[in-house]
Amino acid sequence: MTMLFTDVYMSPRLLAPGGTPADLTTHVRRYGPLSHGDPAAVLRTLAESGLTGRGGAGFPAHRKFVAVADAARRTERAPVVVANGAESEPAAHKDKTLLRLSPHLVLDGLQLAAEAIGARAAYLAVEDGASYLESALAQRHDPVSVTVVRLPARFLSGQASALARYISGGPARPTHPVPPVRERGVRRAPTLVQNVETLAHLALIARYGADWFRTAGTPADPGSTLCTLHVPGREVRVVEAPFGMPIGRLLPLEGASAALVGGYHGTWIPATEAAQVPLSSAYLGAGVLAALPAGRCGVAETARVLRYLALESAGQCGPCRNGLPRIAAAFRTLAAPGPQGSSRADISRWAGLVAGRGACHHPDGTTRLVRSALTTFATELEAHADGVCTATDHTPLLPVPTERT
Ligand SMILES: Cc1cc2nc3c(=O)[nH]c(=O)nc-3n(C[C@H](O)[C@H](O)[C@H](O)COP(=O)(O)O)c2cc1C
Ligand code: SF4
Repeated sequence: MTMLFTDVYMSPRLLAPGGTPADLTTHVRRYGPLSHGDPAAVLRTLAESGLTGRGGAGFPAHRKFVAVADAARRTERAPVVVANGAESEPAAHKDKTLLRLSPHLVLDGLQLAAEAIGARAAYLAVEDGASYLESALAQRHDPVSVTVVRLPARFLSGQASALARYISGGPARPTHPVPPVRERGVRRAPTLVQNVETLAHLALIARYGADWFRTAGTPADPGSTLCTLHVPGREVRVVEAPFGMPIGRLLPLEGASAALVGGYHGTWIPATEAAQVPLSSAYLGAGVLAALPAGRCGVAETARVLRYLALESAGQCGPCRNGLPRIAAAFRTLAAPGPQGSSRADISRWAGLVAGRGACHHPDGTTRLVRSALTTFATELEAHADGVCTATDHTPLLPVPTERT
């Protein structure tokens, strides 16, 4: 169960107040009607806003829009837009929450994106809630038709090329990164894949302008962002906060030893440091912020997540076939107090070997987590090597789906 505290940190922009889903009438009353028909103005305002993608990489949205439109012109193929609502990261709930509470904001953004790049087909890809979104679509009279796509519940389903491949009739597994999806994606057409939150921001930027958008956040990192907060003993919360806000103001870190910033492709940071770190698109990843209480073992938590990530890889490329399972197995050794042999050195070496070598960024994200765990939990690792674990509570903390048999 996810609870909402949308109005604690700023006046909420994206999520319907009170946690009540907004139907089309409520949506239009709240935000005003959407005006169609001026793609150049949408592109210009998007560029001025500095909006970056909220799906993980923080890439400037305007640059991707222009790249897809250029590819469409070059290849003389009508481009396609995909709203990425997969949110396959187990600890993340922000996209599902946004789609449930403010579906029309996402659908507005999807229309604007399609019109801006001249797409005639649009898709909204989700793991959950497809029927609900089809009902929301049925209330609208959109110029560009939208198909809701039900994705398999796998970690890789939300990767851009896996999405394009699945929509084209193939498996939901990443393809070779060359040519990129922006040039050849859904049924070989230039394809714009944007996270659903990115599109919701676009819907507001088109209504209220770039200057309004920039009234939240910092000059380098404008706007607000949705975060999923995990604090042990409390319900999971989705909040909206401006970039630049210190993480400690969002995530209670008293009594915590570390924070996981970004999710399972993210970074462990010692709690005292994390409290001061500003929210940034550079490392917010899937928007997950999780506090690790001092009595829990960060090495054991990381080992569980790594096993999940290794099992979820598509196993198509060397780094995932050979590297991630070995790293995950060696991390399991580190998680058990006692002799560790060469596990630590092996993990560091393998992490260096797999990074940057996969067809997608799954190995890169996984090794980011690994490296940060080796640094942040260095003291715990020394204690484990001496046969001691100082943790007092060994119940699993971070959510990891049950393994498939
Ligand atoms: C393994 C993997 C899983 C991903 N899963 C998601 C996801 O669930 N949702 C999402 O929006 N982006 C996901 N991404 C990022 C997408 O590939 C893509 O960059 C993003 O949807 C682009 O949208 P944005 O620019 O608006 O952030 C994933 C990337 C990788 C490497
Ligand atoms: S790097 Fe891993 S997850 Fe990505 S395509 Fe290759 S095998 Fe699949």
